[in-house]
Amino acid sequence: MPTLFNPQDENSLMLFRYTSSPVAEFTASDFSLIQKISTKRNAEFGVTGQLEFDGTRFFQEIEGGVAPIALLVGVILSDPRHRDISVEAFQRIEMRSHAAFVTGGLSEQRKPGDTG
Ligand SMILES: Cc1cc2nc3c(=O)[nH]c(=O)nc-3n(C[C@H](O)[C@H](O)[C@H](O)COP(=O)(O)O)c2cc1C
Repeated sequence: MPTLFNPQDENSLMLFRYTSSPVAEFTASDFSLIQKISTKRNAEFGVTGQLEFDGTRFFQEIEGGVAPIALLVGVILSDPRHRDISVEAFQRIEMRSHAAFVTGGLSEQRKPGDTG
């Protein structure tokens, strides 16, 4: 993707936060792929925040420059792997609350039925 913006621009920061549900056929390996792609892309875009998945709902918060956040909002909202998206925040912010983009959830969680 061509660079349309400067990821180092800290002058106009935005926050986007939502929750959503995976589609029925969503698997742990789908989530691993999303973790990998989002970690790489968000770092390139200077986007920080977190993505959590508890097996039922996604919780995501991303923060960064207006241009990368606006682009990601469009990409994420149109991703067919989740539904029932409930936007909780999409607003300008004065400063970031995350130092990096981190993801967590199913892949490193104990699965139901695990013993010991
Ligand atoms: C719940 C959820 C959260 C996602 N979060 C991000 C994200 O933070 N950053 C990102 O680049 N892609 C994220 N994605 C993946 C994008 O929707 C998209 O598949 C990815 O950026 C690759 O896009 P491309 O196929 O246009 O390269 C997320 C997808 C889902 C389902």
